Parts: sequence; structure tokens; C-alpha cells
Amino acid sequence: MATEKADPQEEVINDVESMAEEGCQDSTICSSMSKKALKRQMKYQAIVMEKKAKRKEEKERKKARKREASERQTAIEGDLGNSDTAHEVDDDNRKHSKKYSNKAIRERLEDAMKSGQRICVDCGFESNMDKKEVCKLAQQLGRLYGANRHAEKPFHIYFTNLHKDEAIYKECVRVNCGFENYLIEMTDKSHLESFDRSEIVYLTPDSANVLEFLEPDKVYIIGGLVDESPQKNVTLKNAEKFDVKTAQLPIDKYMEKVEGKFNYSKILTINQVFDILLTFYNTGDWKKALVAGVPRRKGYKLMEADKKL
Ligand SMILES: C[S@@+](CC[C@H](N)C(=O)[O-])C[C@H]1O[C@@H](n2cnc3c(N)ncnc32)[C@H](O)[C@@H]1O
Repeated sequence: MATEKADPQEEVINDVESMAEEGCQDSTICSSMSKKALKRQMKYQAIVMEKKAKRKEEKERKKARKREASERQTAIEGDLGNSDTAHEVDDDNRKHSKKYSNKAIRERLEDAMKSGQRICVDCGFESNMDKKEVCKLAQQLGRLYGANRHAEKPFHIYFTNLHKDEAIYKECVRVNCGFENYLIEMTDKSHLESFDRSEIVYLTPDSANVLEFLEPDKVYIIGGLVDESPQKNVTLKNAEKFDVKTAQLPIDKYMEKVEGKFNYSKILTINQVFDILLTFYNTGDWKKALVAGVPRRKGYKLMEADKKL
């Protein structure tokens, strides 16, 4: 059972009051002081003690805030892929282990760029987005890279249709520290110019096909489109126009609707789709990937085992 922490000032005052009421038994105190003076003295001591306790608490709070800020800074640096800011970490040991982990991350990303599963974000939808949506896309691409850095088995990432003189690239550089040095492939070419058509699977919530697994010789494309008011079938039509295969995530296969006021939309953000694919790539478990990646507010939960399939 939790016990309530006593207020030190109140404790002393209570002690004094009960001592005064009971009649002081301590002759060494009572002999030299009147009850009133004793009460005043004890109240003063209580105030001093309370101030001391408050100072101690404030010191501890400050320490905790400092620790949290430093942890947050380390996490941000990790997410942004910025190894140049290591000097900001004050502790020598942490500096060393951070350097080591940055080195390990770099090695994993370089390996992925040689032989990892290919995932591509098609950045060719600038004309479908306003300024705010372009900014959100840039932020999502930064987070996507951060997630890949932290993965035990990262993807080989491509950003296609990314033109250095256009708004998406400029915004990516503006909001993501170290964007130009990301360990990914960036190209102004389209996915059709970058890959063989037979290798491409365009992911789109509007596809009639369901993604079963990730095939190592395929490249999975995510539409780099942030559409605050959904623009249905944009990527599907685009893929069909160029005779490219499409697939949607297996949400209906593993999840069922929760009763309530939900819109049951299966349109996820670029990050959510990427995180689901990354978890599946690392665990081989769609249920784990979907339950972690599909936000609860969409109105889906995992299907009970006996209802599955
Ligand atoms: C915010 S969605 C954009 C949806 C857009 N209306 C469209 O036509 O693709 C961003 C991208 O995430 C991917 N995506 C989102 N939900 C998906 C789902 N349920 N299955 C497969 N891909 C999905 C698609 O590649 C999509 O282009």
C-alpha cells in the first residue's frame, strides 16, 4: 500500500502542538523556555526544514530535467543521423559508446545498400501538394530515415524523382539536419528509369492485390504524397498507366474493425507504412508489424486467431 509523504513543516508543528497540549515532559527544553517561545522556536525550525527540503527537491528536479534533455538530444542526433554534434554529449563514456553505435549504424546501412531489401519513396508528387504538405513530407522522410538507422536490419532506401532545385528537396534539407549525407540513394530519375518494370511493386491503399511478403528481388515503392484531404487512386492510376504491379498492406487479412465511431480508413502515412514494412522485414510477423503501425484511431484491432484467414 502506498504511504503518503508527510509534510515536514506540518509534522514539526503537530509535534510542538501536541507537546504543548500534553505538557512538555522534556525538562531541558521546558526549564529554559516558555511554552509560547518553544512553539515559536519550533515553528521557525519547521520553516527552515521545509525550505531545505524544497531546495533539495528542486535540485533533484533540475538534475532529472538535465538528464532527460541530454537523453532527448542524443535521440534527436541519432534520428537526424548527425554525428558531428557528438561534442555536445558531456559524458566521456557516452561519447565513446555513441561513436561506437554511430559506427555500427553506418556499417549496417552500408551493408543494406549493398544487399538489403529495396524500398523506394517516389517523390514525384510535388504538384499534388501545398507548402504545408511538402513540409510534412520532408519531416516524414526524416523520420523514415531515423527509423531505418535504428533498425537491426535496415532497408536499402531510394528517394526517386527528387530534384535538387525543387521544393521537396529544399524542404528536406531545411528540416532534416545532414539530409544531403543520408546513407540512401537519391536520384532525380523516376522509379521507372531506376528499376526494371518487372521488379516494381507500387504500394497503394487502393490496390486490389494484398502484399503477402517482401520478395528480395523486388523493389517496393511508397508514394511520397501527403494529402491532408485524401486524393483517391492517385498512385494506383499512375501505376496502372505504366503497367506496374500494385499491392496494399494486408490490413484486412490480419485485422478487424472495432465497434465505435471510426472511419476505418486504411490510408496510412508514409512513415506508418514504412514502419510496418520495417517491422515485418525484421520479424517476419505481419501481426506484430500491423498492431504496432496501424494507429488505434483508425478503428482496427488484430483479428482473433480462430477468425484469421
Ligand atoms: C498518405 S498515402 C497517399 C495516398 C494517396 N491517396 C494515394 O493515391 O496513394 C502515402 C503512401 O503510403 C502508401 N500507403 C498508405 N496506405 C497504404 C496501404 N494501406 N497499403 C499500401 N500502401 C499504403 C502508398 O504508397 C501511398 O501512396
